[in-house]
Amino acid sequence: MKLEEIRAAESRLLLSTYERSPVLFVSGEGVYIQDEKGTKYLDLLSGIGVNALGYNHPAIVDTIARQSRALIHTSNLYYHEGQAELALRLTERTGLDRAFFSNTGTEAWEGALKLARAYAGLKRSEGTNIGTKFLALEQSFHGRTFGSMSTTYKAKYREPFGPVVPGVDFVRFNDVADLRAKFSNEVCAILVESIQGEGGIRPLTQEFFSEARALATSTGALLIVDEIQSGMGRTGKWCAYQHYGIQPDVTTFAKPLAGGLPLGAVLCTEEVARVMHAGMEHPPAVIRWQFKWPCEPLANAPRRIEYLIAQSCRIEGGLNAMQILELLWHSVRGSRTGCRDLQHAAMHLNIEGEDMTADVSEDIVRHQKIPEFLGMLQTDLANIRA
Ligand SMILES: Cc1ncc(COP(=O)(O)O)c(C=O)c1O
Repeated sequence: MKLEEIRAAESRLLLSTYERSPVLFVSGEGVYIQDEKGTKYLDLLSGIGVNALGYNHPAIVDTIARQSRALIHTSNLYYHEGQAELALRLTERTGLDRAFFSNTGTEAWEGALKLARAYAGLKRSEGTNIGTKFLALEQSFHGRTFGSMSTTYKAKYREPFGPVVPGVDFVRFNDVADLRAKFSNEVCAILVESIQGEGGIRPLTQEFFSEARALATSTGALLIVDEIQSGMGRTGKWCAYQHYGIQPDVTTFAKPLAGGLPLGAVLCTEEVARVMHAGMEHPPAVIRWQFKWPCEPLANAPRRIEYLIAQSCRIEGGLNAMQILELLWHSVRGSRTGCRDLQHAAMHLNIEGEDMTADVSEDIVRHQKIPEFLGMLQTDLANIRA
């Protein structure tokens, strides 16, 4: 089917949840993606941070092909050769102790919220005075399932589906006084992204992050850090929180974790993990891990990919990344007057303007416009692949 036929069919047959740009992509190679007319784009969106190793990476393709010939799915009732290995790699890199795997980022975040509520329940049963409230941040984004959506700031995500999950309060971004004012023993967890993604690549200040850590520690509440967009090497360290010298109690990953296949993870300390056990008789029925476990062989197969992603930590926010940003900035300013601001953390960047629509990103990504940028990106990619 051609683009116009597909658009017509979708408008008749799909729920209209997304506004799509009128482009039909058919293939990709490295940092490029190609539409049905043969136009080649430099892909800076990369599936919203999912295709971290580019398209058609041989390690990803080969692993998926090999594993799908062996076993695509078993179930969670049996052991799987990949889960513990991936958990080991993630725990080593995060400084956390245990992992649970989900399908998506929003499920990983739901898992983190459940851990917080259950852990607070455990602490109460042990005599600690701690409540069930969550403190999230203004401009946050944590996903679109009910719990995640309820801790996501923008009203447009929450209001059509209200009432949302109760017990969430929003703190002004990087406002330490507001954080202190809203924090109390009623709070079971402070929820942050080290660098807000959808919020515009806005990093927490050291002061705010440190205060969140200190407040949580003071009452036994959890500090939960969403690294779904900023993690996995994207900012030059494995987790963006590592730039701050902060250790969370719980963190979440997804997006590039399985090289484009759906896989998320929630990681926590041994202390928090003691609340979970098979059957979940205690705390009674607060948690049921209702997610279908995704760690079937296919989703876990690209565990080698995780090693490759780790290599991307070599892009340390150094000269190359800065040069790339500068070029991008000049290129964007040259083509659009509306661009106001550029926020970045190494390769994780946001260009803000009056008109941040598909048009702007098209201007940016048409590789003919910024050849130097391309050259540098290729060098970086070659380094990652080496
Ligand atoms: C910071 C953050 N958390 C959670 C999510 C939700 O992840 P998913 O789309 O895999 O459900 C996203 C997705 O963009 C995100 O950026």
